[in-house]
Amino acid sequence: MELANFEWRDEFSINIPIDKDHKHLINIIDKLVQHINQKGDREEFAKILSAMTDYAMQHFKKEELYMKQFNYPQLKEHKAFHKKYIITTIKYNLALLNYVDTDPAEIAIFLSDWWTRHILVADAAYEKYRLEIHSDAVYGEEEL
Ligand SMILES: [Fe+2]
Repeated sequence: MELANFEWRDEFSINIPIDKDHKHLINIIDKLVQHINQKGDREEFAKILSAMTDYAMQHFKKEELYMKQFNYPQLKEHKAFHKKYIITTIKYNLALLNYVDTDPAEIAIFLSDWWTRHILVADAAYEKYRLEIHSDAVYGEEEL
């Protein structure tokens, strides 16, 4: 069974600089999907996933600094979502590299579901709050 392509949707839009990062992450997931559909090897899949985790960590750091700028009341919970995601993807990576019984398709589905839900619910929520309080915080402005 072929996995469906994972593509950017207009409803994912938060604001331009954040969308840019999210688009990049969605592209990587789509690369993983194509890799599975073309029956690519596990090592390459693990390599792409590991690069994606590195990128996601940088993105989360920027997002957390952004939320801090406007004292987002749910920053702690949001950070916990990020942390859990990183732990999960690292575990998947280790399983892939150690040939523990892991299905790359299951990982790709986890990634597309997680990002869809996270962007539409958790990320949309902080931006809604920022607009409500009229904060002029800028994403990516602070040094990492
Ligand atoms: Fe987030």
